[in-house]
Amino acid sequence: MSDLLNSVREKAKKLKKTIVLAEGEEPRIITAAAQASKEGIANLVLLGNPDVIAKKAQGAKLDGVKIIDIKKIDTEPYAQLLYELRKDKGMDIEKARKTVLDPLYFGVLMVKRGEADGMVAGSVNATGDVLRPALQIIKTAKGIKTVSSCFIMVLDKNSKYGENGVMVFGDCAVNPNPDSRQLADIAVASAATAKAIAGISPKVALLSFSTKGSAKHELVDKVTAALEIIKTEHPELDVDGELQADAALVPTVAELKAPGSKVAGHANVLIFPDLQAGNIGYKLVQRLAGAEAIGPICQGFNMPVNDLSRGCSSEDVVNVIAMTALQCG
Ligand code: ACO
Repeated sequence: MSDLLNSVREKAKKLKKTIVLAEGEEPRIITAAAQASKEGIANLVLLGNPDVIAKKAQGAKLDGVKIIDIKKIDTEPYAQLLYELRKDKGMDIEKARKTVLDPLYFGVLMVKRGEADGMVAGSVNATGDVLRPALQIIKTAKGIKTVSSCFIMVLDKNSKYGENGVMVFGDCAVNPNPDSRQLADIAVASAATAKAIAGISPKVALLSFSTKGSAKHELVDKVTAALEIIKTEHPELDVDGELQADAALVPTVAELKAPGSKVAGHANVLIFPDLQAGNIGYKLVQRLAGAEAIGPICQGFNMPVNDLSRGCSSEDVVNVIAMTALQCG
């Protein structure tokens, strides 16, 4: 495990947050809950049937892990809350009563009610299905309009890229085609995650196929408009754009293409112009450069909810639990 993940786990231990795991009957989740509980990374809640969980636990010790069987408890207060929050969006009480029986909704409602500090799911559910209940119920943090995601990319410690080989890429998993406003939100949130979880000082590059006007296109205009928004709202942030990836990363190229830029040549937070670029970009660096890709880390929610990859291991789940704890504030 990387030093970064070790440090994230150590920080989480001090916080003693409660994290609900909605996919409580999934063996990797059960193993992760047992391990995270044993290590003291968080207080864990598994949603599921206790007999099924015990059978699938295969010796994993679940002492201290709370199990909630949604089918056996009074879910009416959760249904009422869901109805109140969503009645203007066409929710009626009967539909709310059925919807809360979906663990992804129930978990998010637990967070909303303050019974848990954050939720983790996605080992057996698609990203959209994990995020939609949270988008509808948890909503965004104050001052942020867009929920987005990033990956912490860990290269070799001696890499010439990133801060000690650590970089942050956003958005790689949530917003298919962000506009300038959303792109600005993604950049600001990714910079915050870079500081809070990756432990680096963010130097943010808004990536494009153009550097400083070398190409004219409406896709480039979207990126330069995002830069203007960030500069106005967050003058404290080290950010520049539009930059091609080489101008963002390589000092000699930066000198030629973006002379005088504080960020070009030294960027450690890369903001991709859309989800096609972001998702492809992080996977290329992961596969071709052998980087460890930690995430997706969701950012911008009022209370943290994180989505797992369906290919995740139980170790990955423990890491996401720890990162979620760090986002609880
Ligand atoms: N930030 C804030 N609010 C949002 C966002 C956002 N990014 N997206 C949607 N919302 C809000 C909407 O305004 C709406 O609010 P309301 O119902 O209170 O009015 C609510 O969330 C639901 O919106 P929908 O439009 O119904 O949700 P949608 O079906 O578009 O789902 C989602 C949103 C899940 C994020 C969608 O954009 C999506 O599926 N994104 C791609 C996910 C994906 O497949 N990623 C790639 C795989 S992940 C990987 O490879 C690691």
